[in-house]
Amino acid sequence: MRKASLFRLLDPVSAAIARQLAGPRGWFGRTVMTRVLNRGNRALIEATLEGVALTPGHRLLDVGFGGGALLELAHARGVRSLAGVDPSDAAVAWLRARRARFGGSELRLERCAVEALPFEEASFDVVASTNTVYFWPDLAQAFSELHRVLRPGGLLTVGFSSAAKLREFGGITRHGFRFHENAALVAAAEAAGFKDVRLVELHGRVTQGDLVLRACR
Ligand SMILES: C[S@@+](CC[C@H](N)C(=O)[O-])C[C@H]1O[C@@H](n2cnc3c(N)ncnc32)[C@H](O)[C@@H]1O
Repeated sequence: MRKASLFRLLDPVSAAIARQLAGPRGWFGRTVMTRVLNRGNRALIEATLEGVALTPGHRLLDVGFGGGALLELAHARGVRSLAGVDPSDAAVAWLRARRARFGGSELRLERCAVEALPFEEASFDVVASTNTVYFWPDLAQAFSELHRVLRPGGLLTVGFSSAAKLREFGGITRHGFRFHENAALVAAAEAAGFKDVRLVELHGRVTQGDLVLRACR
């Protein structure tokens, strides 16, 4: 079978997976997709927090936490004030049911998107996000909100796959993914007021083509 016809045949499956990646939903989203995300995205999540000097006193926000692996990692590294937002009901229900894993930490979970964060200005020392930029509808609004909720001097760390890597995936990422070019992400962060915006390229077996955007408020 030619590659093009195979793609067409598998298109409904690709679309269904893409919908779950954009927002885990239903029983499958809550019990399967969240676990798949935690396992499959582990390397990028670790890279996103790598070299970030976390302390127990830090207040950390994860935007679009999915299965919650980044929040669990931050907890394991001693951060005691954690918050996470995700527009997916299934993701929020999943992590609320796993609260016991965050013993000794304050954990606030909200169902909402990056475009309108329900936090006061300067609420966080570190704001992180992984694999969510493909679903941000408006980069300017997203970076403006991230800037608002970080304290002056606070750190933004955003892990993502480059648009070039997403294009290679072909099938799945053709359904609803936004291909933000690296330069557009940097420009939007700078326009929102972030300083020292830089991109770190990752070179691991799994993370080849992935990047981490780091910036200071
Ligand atoms: C591919 S998953 C990544 C989850 C997790 N951060 C990880 O790396 O495993 C994308 C997540 O972003 C969330 N999301 C989608 N649109 C969003 C938005 N506009 N703002 C914040 N999160 C969003 C989805 O609900 C989903 O949980």
